[in-house]
Amino acid sequence: MGLALSRKSSEDKQMAGPPHSPGVEDAVRALRAGELVGLPTETVYGLGADASNELAVRRIFEVKGRPSSHPLIVHLADAAALDAWAVDLTAPARALAGAFWPGPLTLVVKRSALASDAVTGGQDTVALRVPAHPLALEVLRRFGGGVAAPSANRFGHVSPTTAAHVRADLGAAVACVLDGGPCAVGVESTIVDVTTASPVLLRPGGLATEDIERCLGGPLRSPDASSHRAPGMLAAHYAPRAGLLLVPEAELERVARERAERLRVGVLSRKALSLPPEVRVRRLSGDLAEEARSLYAALRELDEAGVELIVASVPPTLGLGRAVADRLQRAAHHTPQI
Ligand code: TXA
Ligand code: MG
Repeated sequence: MGLALSRKSSEDKQMAGPPHSPGVEDAVRALRAGELVGLPTETVYGLGADASNELAVRRIFEVKGRPSSHPLIVHLADAAALDAWAVDLTAPARALAGAFWPGPLTLVVKRSALASDAVTGGQDTVALRVPAHPLALEVLRRFGGGVAAPSANRFGHVSPTTAAHVRADLGAAVACVLDGGPCAVGVESTIVDVTTASPVLLRPGGLATEDIERCLGGPLRSPDASSHRAPGMLAAHYAPRAGLLLVPEAELERVARERAERLRVGVLSRKALSLPPEVRVRRLSGDLAEEARSLYAALRELDEAGVELIVASVPPTLGLGRAVADRLQRAAHHTPQI
C-alpha cells in the first residue's frame, strides 16, 4: 500500500474512532516489519509476531520474560492452512479442526518445516489454532502467514481479556494493541494433542471437553508418561499478585470474615454474603460460561484494589467450569498457607 493511501486511511480512522486507535492495517504492517502486536482473540488477547521471523519470535520470549523452552501457538486464518504447517495428520486432527475452527481449540500436531525451532521450542510438534474473532481473522487473512502468539501478559501473570489489560502489562513493548473489546470466552483455548489416534487433553480451556468428546465419539485421554506435555503449564501460572485460598462454597463467608481480621481480603462469590464493608466482594454469576468470561478481569480488579488474599470456591467441573476450576487451582497452588 502506498504511503499516501495509508496515511489517509489512518486519518480517516482517527476521525471515526478514538484518537490513535490502531486498525487492522497497522497490525499487519507491524507484523510484516517484525514488530509485536497485541491481538484480540475470543479467548484472551495474544502477543503476536510473524511466526516465520525468528528474531520477532525471540522478541516475544524477551518481552514476556518467558523461557524459550515454552513453545508458542501459531494462529492461522483457516483450517486449510493445517496441511502447510503439519505432517502426518491423523483422523481426529482433521475431524476436530473441521468441527471447531475457528474457535477456542488448539491442536498439537507433527510439525512441517514451516514451524521453526524458535516457535516449537525444538519439539517435533507444533500447536495450531484458528481464532474466532473477526479482527484477528482479518489480520491473519491480510497478513497471509502464521502468527505466533502467547497470551499477552507478563510471564506467570493473569491473561489479558481487554486491550487495557495488554497495555497495562506490555504496553511499552508492542507496536500496537488492536482493541477488539472484552474477550467473549475469557479463558485460554483447550489444547488437545492429536498426534495419535487417541487424542490427549493437555489443557482444559474455552471449548468444553464434552463437545470434543462428542465429536470424537469417545473420551479424551489424560497425559501420561509417554504423551506430549504442554511445557510451561506450571502451577504458578495464571496467578494474581494476591494470594488465593480455595474453600468449599459453604465456608466462604466464615473464612473470609476470619482472614479479614488480619489481612485485606477479597472474595469471589456466587451468592450475596454478609461481610464487613472492608472486604471486597466480586460476584460471579454461577453461569459457567459467564464465570469463564469474567474470571481474569475479576482477579485483576481485586489485585488493583490492593487485596492481599482472595478467598474463592471452585465451580462444578462441567462445561467451561473445568477450565475455571483448573485456573483457580493453579493460582491457589502458588499461595503459601496464609
Ligand atoms: O487461547 C489461547 O490459547 C491463547 C490465545 C492468544 O490464542 N494463547 C495462549 O498461549 O494461551 P500461551 O502461550 O499462553 O499458552 C500456550 C500453551 C503453553 O502451555 C504451551 O506449552 C502449549 O500451549 N504448547 C505450545 N506448543 C506446544 C506443543 N508443540 N506441544 C505441547 N504444548 C504446546
Ligand atoms: Mg499464557
